[in-house]
Amino acid sequence: MHFRLNLLWISTVALGLFTPRVFAQNSSQVLDALESMVDCATCLLALVPLQALAHLGNDIFSDALIEVCDLTQAEDADVCSGLMTRLGPIIAHDLRSISIVSQTAARLCTALFGFCASKTPNPFTFPLPSPEVPILPASTPTTRGSTFKVVHISDVHIDREYTVGAEANCTKNICCRNFADDTGNVTDPAQPFGNSKCDSPPSLADSMLEAVNSFNAKFIIFTGDVVEGAIWLTTQEQIPSEVTSDLEDFNTELLSKITNTPIFPSIGNHDSNPVNSFPRNTTDTTLDVQWVFDTQSAGWKQWIGKDSSNQVDHISGSYAASVPGTDLVILSVNTQYWYRQNLWLYDSDTFQPDPNGILSFMVETLQAAERAGQKVWVIGHIPLGKADTVEDQSNYYDQILQRYKHTIVGQFFGHSHKDQFEVAYSDYNDQTAANAVGVGLICPALTPTSGNPAFKVYDVDPDTFGIMDIFFISANITDPDFQYNPTWDVYYDAREVYGPLVDLPSTSELTPAFWHNLTEVFMNNDTAFQMFNTFISRGGAVTTCDDTDNCKNTTICDMRAFRSQNNCDVDEGSFALKKRSAGSLNEASECEGIGIKEIFAKIRNKLMA
Ligand SMILES: *[C@@H]1O[C@H](CO)[C@@H](O)[C@H](O)[C@H]1NC(C)=O
Ligand SMILES: *[C@@H]1O[C@H](CO)[C@@H](O)[C@H](O)[C@H]1NC(C)=O
Ligand SMILES: *[C@@H]1O[C@H](CO)[C@@H](O)[C@H](O)[C@H]1NC(C)=O
Ligand SMILES: *[C@@H]1O[C@H](CO)[C@@H](O)[C@H](O)[C@H]1NC(C)=O
Ligand SMILES: *[C@@H]1O[C@H](CO)[C@@H](O)[C@H](O)[C@H]1NC(C)=O
Ligand SMILES: *[C@@H]1O[C@H](CO)[C@@H](O)[C@H](O)[C@H]1NC(C)=O
Ligand SMILES: *[C@@H]1O[C@H](CO)[C@@H](O)[C@H](O)[C@H]1NC(C)=O
Ligand SMILES: *[C@@H]1O[C@H](CO)[C@@H](O)[C@H](O)[C@H]1NC(C)=O
Repeated sequence: MHFRLNLLWISTVALGLFTPRVFAQNSSQVLDALESMVDCATCLLALVPLQALAHLGNDIFSDALIEVCDLTQAEDADVCSGLMTRLGPIIAHDLRSISIVSQTAARLCTALFGFCASKTPNPFTFPLPSPEVPILPASTPTTRGSTFKVVHISDVHIDREYTVGAEANCTKNICCRNFADDTGNVTDPAQPFGNSKCDSPPSLADSMLEAVNSFNAKFIIFTGDVVEGAIWLTTQEQIPSEVTSDLEDFNTELLSKITNTPIFPSIGNHDSNPVNSFPRNTTDTTLDVQWVFDTQSAGWKQWIGKDSSNQVDHISGSYAASVPGTDLVILSVNTQYWYRQNLWLYDSDTFQPDPNGILSFMVETLQAAERAGQKVWVIGHIPLGKADTVEDQSNYYDQILQRYKHTIVGQFFGHSHKDQFEVAYSDYNDQTAANAVGVGLICPALTPTSGNPAFKVYDVDPDTFGIMDIFFISANITDPDFQYNPTWDVYYDAREVYGPLVDLPSTSELTPAFWHNLTEVFMNNDTAFQMFNTFISRGGAVTTCDDTDNCKNTTICDMRAFRSQNNCDVDEGSFALKKRSAGSLNEASECEGIGIKEIFAKIRNKLMA
């Protein structure tokens, strides 16, 4: 209390911006609330004064958050005001719309403060048609046609304001830009092709796309996140047009660099404004994001065709499209309605099992494919097993997967920025190779913030559309030549390094059972596990993972968690943030960088210091 009053006084006098009484009145309400939270019950209680503040209006609410962020110096002033101005109104809208004794309130506590985390989905049996055609016994083709190649790219995070020579070692989440508050001499100048503290310069994206082109892929999948991580910048009015031009520019870039190859993209959580902002269609708001879907519908039409691009427009960014000349359908889903950090999900006390009908659209598409004897690859941004996926939709998606396991022969995601996989089981209490029914393959990022820039190349069986091999391609950012001419090499070949560890027969695909068996090897062979631990960042940002903090066990547990309810990540409350740097490799999703939860945690840590 003493500390706080002093801080208020000092800050008020130093900044000379507010009259002390008014300043203290609203922001001390927020400070009190933040200070009082120690567990789920106190978090819910603290929502009462926050709700009262929200009822005074969006501006008052956001201003109080900005003041608190500023006076605790949790972030630079531009970051505080930018982020709180954007997200404050959504949080205020949520608080005004819900009862604080509801499940939604508990979930809001989880999203904002890390309390009340639950791994128990609301029980719901997703409506599924019974099989219409007899499922033929799985047969191994005696003669396999020659495989074709598919390239998977993700999380490009292109920063068009990347400035060569700007400070790379700045105080913000994303550097290498000329920020207005930069003073003094540059100590670590940004180089031409990128820096590990910064998002991708366009030159790096160009270089990667040239490398992608050299593989002569049959098609390319892109699992989202075009826009860079400087999520606090510019005003609300400006940003939609900036995001629009970023999305349009990347579409154009893909078009000009990738010739004669269809591209199947999906939307990422950064490809909106504010970041993660995807209101449900039951929400009445002026911040609706139809403009994102319109932009992508127009930009993607040349690859996915007219009908599918219409779906992008009308099914909230999702679509299904056939790969020309094959029996393979790409089902691209907008996973953002299942994302905990999409703060729009907390504005109703009514249980909504299928926001915007994305899961129903999946079922419709899968049913049609089953009837037609086609196979389906699902692509989307956020993998279903992460702690940041809402446990409800993760569970319902898994029900769909169980029903259509013979039709869904591939699932591809991004978002974590890491080279990972997640196995689905018919019985999660009996995790065996025989019970493995699906796998989500997660592509590392182009952005160098979490390891060496990378993409994947799959070798695909033309009859089953199963994966025969995966080549991980990366460019070594610490190699001195990187800044003149990045070279993209095979970092490792999954079949070559993993195959012998599980005695994989030469004709076998990399099936869900294969991935399960690999987790068994990781459990028993630490050398193999440590190899995976190096691969996860393409050798770029290797962190120790052993028995300390149960890191290894948690990481292996997460490989066996296609559903978020099954991962072993413990959300101790982001207020225990200092401890969170340890633990599972999977836990710290790098995609968010600096999010509202991290800022609240920093504020709290400063208060408690
Ligand atoms: C603080 O809240 C009061 C209402 O309680 C409001 O009239 C006032 O404008 C607020 N102050 C600021 C700086 O937003
Ligand atoms: C980056 O800046 C911090 C202080 O802001 C300093 O301690 C560190 O040495 C700098 N690193 C480099 C590589 O310049
Ligand atoms: C920047 O560098 C110049 C020349 O080396 C030096 O004179 C000046 O004092 C430096 N400025 C700061 C703020 O360090
Ligand atoms: C809104 O979502 C519901 C499912 O929750 C879906 O049935 C409906 O088609 C959607 N409407 C629009 C306009 O997208
Ligand atoms: C990247 O290059 C540096 C410098 O040449 C080297 O030390 C490092 O081992 C390389 N990393 C990888 C993953 O090849
Ligand atoms: C997985 O391991 C089991 C048991 O060791 C074995 O029977 C099965 O063939 C393996 N499957 C694959 C795909 O490696
Ligand atoms: C453990 O894994 C390493 C490769 O990472 C391999 O060389 C070694 O043969 C494996 N050991 C056993 C006992 O399988
Ligand atoms: C990890 O799990 C294994 C098997 O479940 C267990 O034997 C081991 O003690 C666990 N290690 C730690 C550090 O908890």
